[in-house]
Amino acid sequence: MALRFERLHKHFVAEVCPVDLRRVDDPETLAEIRRGMDEHAILVFHDQPFTDDEHLAFAQRLDGALHTKLGSAAIQKNRFGNEALGDISNVGADGEILQQGDRRRAYGLGNRLWHTDASFQDPPGRYSMLSAKVVPRVAADTEYADMRAAYDALPQETKRQIEGLTVHHSIAYSRQVLGFEFSDDEQNMLKGAVHPLVRTIPRSNRKSLYVASHASRVMQWPVPEGRLLLRDLIEHATQPEFVYRHQWRVGDLVIWDNRCTMHRARSFEDTTHRRELRRVTTLDIPATV
Ligand code: OGA
Ligand code: MN
Repeated sequence: MALRFERLHKHFVAEVCPVDLRRVDDPETLAEIRRGMDEHAILVFHDQPFTDDEHLAFAQRLDGALHTKLGSAAIQKNRFGNEALGDISNVGADGEILQQGDRRRAYGLGNRLWHTDASFQDPPGRYSMLSAKVVPRVAADTEYADMRAAYDALPQETKRQIEGLTVHHSIAYSRQVLGFEFSDDEQNMLKGAVHPLVRTIPRSNRKSLYVASHASRVMQWPVPEGRLLLRDLIEHATQPEFVYRHQWRVGDLVIWDNRCTMHRARSFEDTTHRRELRRVTTLDIPATV
């Protein structure tokens, strides 16, 4: 089946049609989607009414083994009984909307910080595939930043300065910024991971900045200088020219490459409006730092 890729942003993101991903399992179409990911870093598919099993199966057909160590596993049992199926929603196990003061809600608010999925683990996440089930009538969008275009636009001097640096990523660090506290047991499950700051993405061979709100220190630098550098890089990469904003429709599947994009949820009245999405993320290769 020949796919059409329509670019939605100057630097990245393409909408793909016509295709029913539940039925895609021929090597040619899967290869075409992977090539699309290499080029555009984010692909948007509308009208994909996946069941959870179909979602999990498609993710493995496209990109192999699944990530099962989501940060939320340290604080609550998975609502779906499958650690590979991420619950990106504002509802609890009883189906009720989480309210102010609820610890699960406070944890979920961390998605509003710029981040890349599971960078506090090794291996981190490679492709994330987010499927929209219930979308509020108010805007509850997700923003994405192209970390390849952001890298390309850095001054030569900065590129030289950051080459070869490695960074510790910790979810305890990023959640602390919002006042969220982990117990000692939880912290023990979430020790963080070290990854290169500049990554070369296989196949496209493009360089990318690998930073996130989880990035807590530059291993080769003193803590304050490292943190300032990381802040500067995130500020640079999230300028409007590198950012795409996705407005969700029920049935959307968005696939992003965590190695070369960051994302964040935008704020909405989440204690009033129900929003339910499910995320399946594939496993990247281990860091070689
Ligand atoms: C995610 C995520 C943002 C959102 O699914 O990994 O960060 O808008 N989602 O829900
Ligand atoms: Mn995320």
